[in-house]
Amino acid sequence: MKRRSALFGLLAPLGAWGQRGLRGGFRAGRAAGEGLPLAATDQEKRILSVLEEAWNTGATYANVPHTDGRMLRLLTEAAKAKHVVEIGTSTGLSGLWFCMALQKTGGRLTTFEYDPRRAATARGHFRKAAVAELVTIVEGDAHQTIARLKEPFDILFLDADKDGYVDYFNRLLPLVRPGGLLLAHNIDMAPEYDRLITTNPALETQYFREGGGMSITLKKL
Ligand SMILES: C[S@@+](CC[C@H](N)C(=O)[O-])C[C@H]1O[C@@H](n2cnc3c(N)ncnc32)[C@H](O)[C@@H]1O
Repeated sequence: MKRRSALFGLLAPLGAWGQRGLRGGFRAGRAAGEGLPLAATDQEKRILSVLEEAWNTGATYANVPHTDGRMLRLLTEAAKAKHVVEIGTSTGLSGLWFCMALQKTGGRLTTFEYDPRRAATARGHFRKAAVAELVTIVEGDAHQTIARLKEPFDILFLDADKDGYVDYFNRLLPLVRPGGLLLAHNIDMAPEYDRLITTNPALETQYFREGGGMSITLKKL
């Protein structure tokens, strides 16, 4: 693919070492982002133990793997995000990763889910991790309920119906603040969305190829 070979071209001077890094060749367990990270505070420890328990007990449904979750946390904290909007809560595991950052940034999460049982499980996870006050779960079809969003926010994370990404993009891009991020999980399953984020000069997109694959788009203007 064109964009991939351009990137490899830039890394050519680094030889095979640099290109292996791009493909994930530096993986070395925790150090390179796999598994759960080491906890630095009691708050982090509490969130990580809820994540671990959810995976061990099967309180899961199509959740982001740890690698992707760690990247969500990292981006959110680095962006000093105050408000993250997530489409597709499931049982709240990506939400927990966002909360790990948001409790540091003083931010909050609004997350949309149409399955009441998964929303209830997510609520339990947020309570157990002591982050419930940071999270608003909006139940119902997000194509209807996102109409409630009126104020600009910092990060949009798309992780629900893949053929809905274009509708979410068209309606929510105006609310992402300039300098904010649009993140789309399983990007390989949303080619039309991918076209939109790579043909708009006001956007800059790169790809996180680990885990489920994710586009990372900066709203420049
Ligand atoms: C891939 S899972 C989300 C995983 C979650 N982000 C995580 O990593 O923990 C997708 C979720 O989106 C929900 N969903 C799909 N279409 C939706 C819609 N139109 N409105 C609201 N939720 C929807 C599904 O019920 C499912 O729970």
